Amino acid sequence: MRSVEWHAGRVRLIDQRLLPAEVRWLELETAEEVARAIREMAIRGAPAIGAAAAFGLALAARRSRSASRAGLLNDLRAAAETLRAARPTAVNLSWAVARLLRRAESEPDRAAIPAALLAEAQALADEDVAVNRRLGEHGAALVQDGDTILHHCNTGALATVDYGTALGVIRTAYEQGKRIHVLVDETRPRLQGARLTAWELQQLGIPFTLIADNAAGHFMRTGQVNLVLVGADRVAANGDVANKIGTYKLAVVAQANGIPFYPCVPTSTIDLATATGDDIPIEERPADEVTALTYRGRPIAPAGVTVANPAFDVTPHRYVTGIVTERGVVYPPFAAGLRRVVGG
Ligand code: MRU
Repeated sequence: MRSVEWHAGRVRLIDQRLLPAEVRWLELETAEEVARAIREMAIRGAPAIGAAAAFGLALAARRSRSASRAGLLNDLRAAAETLRAARPTAVNLSWAVARLLRRAESEPDRAAIPAALLAEAQALADEDVAVNRRLGEHGAALVQDGDTILHHCNTGALATVDYGTALGVIRTAYEQGKRIHVLVDETRPRLQGARLTAWELQQLGIPFTLIADNAAGHFMRTGQVNLVLVGADRVAANGDVANKIGTYKLAVVAQANGIPFYPCVPTSTIDLATATGDDIPIEERPADEVTALTYRGRPIAPAGVTVANPAFDVTPHRYVTGIVTERGVVYPPFAAGLRRVVGG
């Protein structure tokens, strides 16, 4: 099952807002609809939104009414801007959009551009799956038989095109026969851990326990965690890592307790143009994501409270043990290692 795919001239994606209660597919016909699905998090996870945006540009090319090549390229640039603006932190989104635009600009024949963009989007989606499998192999070498792994947010098939990054590592280790257990952070406020990671692990038959985010420190201090594996939305050139809000706290507590902390990322998540984590834009999301939760059917906060809801945080590289990629594990000093894996 792919989280996003091209189907009969439309972009089809699983509506992650409804999981795990309901599995429903959305069929989208315009780049604007794809941008809305990304903004409203019907699809989420850095590699998945990159692939969705790529298919969104393929839609824009098919629907353009511009007769000339220059007109079509202008339509594509406008669609690219809308898609790119949907969410600011995950670099995979602008990476995918830039790749598709480059492909369009390299095609001299206007009539050939729609098919070329669809082929490019398909290739990008297929590569994502292949990359995750390689990443899974590299990461699984870090997992010992009997390990308990702490995991944050959702980094599985749903967050990618298929297979997953950190969850792909967990999946590979499990498929290799290692007896592992996963502690799943519920991941407030949108509960990607409780709703999505727990759903995926259940389907895969991988043993796990769901914990409140606030419990992670307790499990680490009491020796019940061997390894912390997370994904990332952007890795800066110096190795600083932006990921789902709450990741920073995990990394600090992991280091304080001598527990290795590894972000697992495709190289498309490494942004050498961003010098440090301070340069990564952090998305601020609507207040109702925090307040709309209910406790036993009742509001969890008084009406009208002021809310801050940053969706991501930055973990400085000094807390990162290593960064797992499809081209191997990068260890400090990160600047040179990241340049090497991105370079090829
Ligand atoms: O806000 P989300 O759900 O899109 O955030 C997702 C994450 O933070 C993931 O850890 C990250 O995108 C990596 S997914 C392979």
